[in-house]
Amino acid sequence: MPDAPPRYAIVGLGHRATMYLNALLGEHARDGALVGLCDLNPGRLDVARAKVRAAGLEVPGYGADGFDRMIGETAPHRVIVATPDNIHAQYIVRAMELGCDVITEKPLTMDADACARILDARRRTGRSIIVGFNYRYSPVRTLMKQVLMSGIIGHVKSATFEWLLDTHHGADYFRRWHRRKANSGGLFVHKATHHFDLLNWWLGSVPRRVTALGRRVFYRPETGDALGLTDRGTRCAECAAFPRCGFRLDMAGDAHLRALYLESEAHDGYLRDQCVFSDEIDIEDSMNAMIEFNNGVVANYTLTAYNPCEGYRVVFDGNRGRAELLNIERQAVKPDGSLVRPPAPEQDRIVVQPHFARPYELALPPAEGLHGGGDRVMLRRLFRDASNDQYGHVADERAGAWSAMVGMAANASLLRDGAVELAGLVPDAPLPDLVADPFGPAAIWQEFDPARYPFLEGARVL
Ligand SMILES: NC(=O)c1ccc[n+]([C@@H]2O[C@H](COP(=O)([O-])OP(=O)(O)OC[C@H]3O[C@@H](n4cnc5c(N)ncnc54)[C@H](O)[C@@H]3O)[C@@H](O)[C@H]2O)c1
Repeated sequence: MPDAPPRYAIVGLGHRATMYLNALLGEHARDGALVGLCDLNPGRLDVARAKVRAAGLEVPGYGADGFDRMIGETAPHRVIVATPDNIHAQYIVRAMELGCDVITEKPLTMDADACARILDARRRTGRSIIVGFNYRYSPVRTLMKQVLMSGIIGHVKSATFEWLLDTHHGADYFRRWHRRKANSGGLFVHKATHHFDLLNWWLGSVPRRVTALGRRVFYRPETGDALGLTDRGTRCAECAAFPRCGFRLDMAGDAHLRALYLESEAHDGYLRDQCVFSDEIDIEDSMNAMIEFNNGVVANYTLTAYNPCEGYRVVFDGNRGRAELLNIERQAVKPDGSLVRPPAPEQDRIVVQPHFARPYELALPPAEGLHGGGDRVMLRRLFRDASNDQYGHVADERAGAWSAMVGMAANASLLRDGAVELAGLVPDAPLPDLVADPFGPAAIWQEFDPARYPFLEGARVL
């Protein structure tokens, strides 16, 4: 008789929780049993329960003040935390104190005190935490990890990482809770936690010092005025400029947004479509950081949130050559705010060039679904099989802490106008597992040899 599958409860039933709900009701229905649902907002709780009911199940729902009762009555093994970032710590800590393991959405948390509380609860309770760093799991980013681990480009000395958010996705952080630093830590924490985690993971190291600049240059009243949107309102649903605005969000016209947010807003006043040109916004939309790693690498990082297209470019320069990954996730935003996507799912290119040799473009592995195929692979890992994790995809609270700490240090650097050391930011923060030494001892590149480096199979010399 096989063991019964683990029991799951989810707290925070907004947009992101949909991925976990769909997985537990669909592809992973046999890998885990959904036993409890919790949200501050009764409207979103109802939407989630109706979805579960449509799949033939009945799962009890609880308000935010019923979290402890949910754990007591439904006895989950694991709690999935998908609330806004400023509330993660509260539920992560409480879930562990009540005897549960945790899967939390990124970022682990937003500030040093909350991070210390999580690390302390982890030590006290012995329960485990997995951070949903889905970006790591994408097949293309894993291929880049293989390139770095192989030593083909030698010891990495410097990196350049530029991430572009378009006026559809990027603008979304300026419409709702993310737009206040107190809720999200700004994009240096909320968004860049993915990118800082990727750098830590790719490089097999953690930063020691960060120097940052950050400004809000686009999502400002002046931009709305310059676009001729002077008659704009405080939110899209009540805006005279709505038909002329390329940043509009039509909640009434989208069944998912309507049910989840528009029809639920009377309960808590959460407005999903506030004007992106409001002067109430206090997060940056244009950020730069110079990050010095313990292993000597210096990375230059750029994040902008108002681009016409969405994607990223990361380059690693080593003492034997360079490797570059170029991604276009979406090609353009149309004037009505909808998207032009490249052929499914995204366009990627990895070019490697060892010293004194011609560059070659790698053949890419297939990827299915969102976030470069990362979501699907991560869900399989989380719900089905975490064994043979040879690239160290599964991230725990230490990886979560060291990625969030880079964002915290960047935010501190903005205030201080100078470099910030990570040491002591969160006292006694343990180092994450750094998968093998990516620039290991063998690592002497001699020839283009797919027999020795299987990821070269199918590569095209340029
Ligand atoms: N990994 C990714 O690619 C990815 C993508 C999107 C969002 N996220 C993360 O998922 C989390 C949720 O983001 P979202 O876009 O779904 O936000 P959302 O606003 O759509 O959903 C948040 C939910 O939490 C609920 N909530 C708020 N306060 C609560 C409380 N005190 N107790 C219980 N529930 C509460 C809200 O009512 C809402 O239903 C964030 O941490 C975000 O960083 C991750």
